[in-house]
Amino acid sequence: MRERRVLVVDDEKLVCWSLSQMLIGAGYAVQTAMNGAEARERLQNFVPEMVLLDVRLPDANGVELLREIKAHDEDVVVLMITAYADADSAVNALKLGADDYIGKPFDVENIRHIVDQGFEKKKLRKEVDFFRRELRKKYDYDNLIGNSSKMIEVFKMIKVCAETDAKIVLVLGESGTGKQLVARAIHYHSARSQEPFIEINCAAIPDNLLENELFGHEGGAYTDASKSHKGIFEAAAGGTVFLDEIGDMPLPMQAKILKVIDSKQFRRLGGSRDIDTDVRIIAATNQDLPAMVKEGNFRGDLFFRLNVMNIPLAPLRQRKEDIPSLANYFIDRLNEEYGRGVSGITPEALECLQRHDWPGNVRELRNAMERAMMLEVGTLITHEFFTHEIRDCVQSKANGLKGAVVHETPAVAESGYINLPPNGISIEEVEKELIQQALHRYNGNQTKAAQCLRMSRDTLRYRIKKFGLQSAGRDDD
Ligand SMILES: Nc1ncnc2c1ncn2[C@@H]1O[C@H](COP(=O)(O)OP(=O)(O)OP(=O)(O)O)[C@@H](O)[C@H]1O
Ligand SMILES: [Mg+2]
Repeated sequence: MRERRVLVVDDEKLVCWSLSQMLIGAGYAVQTAMNGAEARERLQNFVPEMVLLDVRLPDANGVELLREIKAHDEDVVVLMITAYADADSAVNALKLGADDYIGKPFDVENIRHIVDQGFEKKKLRKEVDFFRRELRKKYDYDNLIGNSSKMIEVFKMIKVCAETDAKIVLVLGESGTGKQLVARAIHYHSARSQEPFIEINCAAIPDNLLENELFGHEGGAYTDASKSHKGIFEAAAGGTVFLDEIGDMPLPMQAKILKVIDSKQFRRLGGSRDIDTDVRIIAATNQDLPAMVKEGNFRGDLFFRLNVMNIPLAPLRQRKEDIPSLANYFIDRLNEEYGRGVSGITPEALECLQRHDWPGNVRELRNAMERAMMLEVGTLITHEFFTHEIRDCVQSKANGLKGAVVHETPAVAESGYINLPPNGISIEEVEKELIQQALHRYNGNQTKAAQCLRMSRDTLRYRIKKFGLQSAGRDDD
């Protein structure tokens, strides 16, 4: 295990000496400083993870120094050393973010416990933060659904990448095919699963901020940057960095990533120290990288470096056999999410899903199911609440190329009563018109009108309300 770095700052030589002897004996890497100037120099060059800091220094105020340290990196654990008489500044120091304080005179062995505990607390704090953030997301990781041969290939690749600790993986696929889920699955099935998974969407971050996000900066690296900041390569140490939409990464940044991959080191912006990095990089894109390379918009050398292990995700239209299990999976998930009790999907609705081409892939399917679940009052998902693009599949099948309207009864279209106007028509207007006619025909009897429209009475009621129709006549309750 690597040595933890501790800086001891005290103007008494004996204190520095005894503490450093004890800490070195306990396996820590230790440096000492006897005044504020020395302390600042060590903070820069030794970059301690913990500082034992005397409140009184000849040339500086320990509390002031504490403030500086925390402003630079709030993860540094600071234990203030105070004389008993100085209880006020101890309290003050705690308020300012010191992690604990040690009263003088002290028992050296006792300090060892406090230091060990300080690191333990820091570790716990980081873990708690991390698990809180990850818990919800992690919930998703095993829920990559699909039994098509294409998905089975994907599962195999995930396993290989996870188990061999492949350092670079490229996930390719159209938008909504599940690239992010695959990246998470690799991480959470690998030996790195206890370490952070940190993602960054290269397309969503302005070019000038991307480097800062990836590599962090030292305080003062540029105006506004008074505090130093860890980038995701540092924060993800031991874990995985997910570079989403890598096709949108600007060329100069691509060169820097290539350098990190080759040297396994990077530098904070404005920093003078190379920092070692041990992360797995998973990159994803929906763009055609080889074409981009040809056009000069993506670096060929980076592409070849990334393309060692690649996982292509087929668009949903090429693996339609996954649709039934995905639909049922979304019903289960959405039942949980919305406290609903939908038990399945009608064969007709499933057929709509099977016939649609899903340009938005699984994301579009999820959205369609969500919309249907929100609107459906019955226990089965019917095609009624799918958008017309999805519903039309059944209609165009039933009606041939006449392509008309709401239901699969050819009579409606064939009667010539409703023909698709040359400029198209809002399907909602058609629905409204038919509902009005049905209500009229049955003198407002909603049960009969609903039967005639092949919809449930609840659905009819919902629509009457939605379209602001007067249900003239009686409500046959
Ligand atoms: N195989 C799958 N099983 C279950 N859910 C899936 C599957 N594939 C995708 N999804 C769901 O579809 C949605 C989109 O997935 P994801 O964000 O991983 O796609 P993406 O390929 O990263 O898309 P984009 O390129 O737009 O970022 C998410 O809600 C995800 O949970
Ligand atoms: Mg994505």
